[in-house]
Amino acid sequence: MKTIINNKEITIPDELREGRLVEYIRNVLNLTGAKNACDMGACGACAILINNKPAKICHSLIKDVENAEVLTIEGMANPDGTLHPLQQAFVDYGAIQCGFCTPGMVLTAHAFLLENQKPTRNQIRKALQGNLCRCTGYQQIIDAIEAASVHYLKQ
Ligand code: FES
Ligand code: FES
Repeated sequence: MKTIINNKEITIPDELREGRLVEYIRNVLNLTGAKNACDMGACGACAILINNKPAKICHSLIKDVENAEVLTIEGMANPDGTLHPLQQAFVDYGAIQCGFCTPGMVLTAHAFLLENQKPTRNQIRKALQGNLCRCTGYQQIIDAIEAASVHYLKQ
């Protein structure tokens, strides 16, 4: 089967179709931003984007991304290696402490901002309600996303 991960077409042997997606992404592709944390769909640490929609993949199978476009945090930076403006905003606003939730937060926020370029703080909070952060208290995360939203107006 074929899939596209971070703009690269990948061919995955058909016998792996029933395997766990999060393990394949982390252990085979070495894209370790997505975390397998709660393993019950509750925390969002495993979130990636599948066809630009956030997906918690701790219970997903490899076949779930057949012919799909997948974005992981490793594919967010600009081609020249500089951070995407949303990633940079997380840095600038101190929205990262331990960093465990950050890949899932950034990707979920990215999908949201692609659809909502002028969000209210409440809309941002709602969009992130499936992503838990044990460190930051969320305010800096909301600040970062609000600040980064202007970059999406130009896209
Ligand atoms: S590890 Fe998937 S939601 Fe927590
Ligand atoms: S920064 Fe530690 S869980 Fe969010």
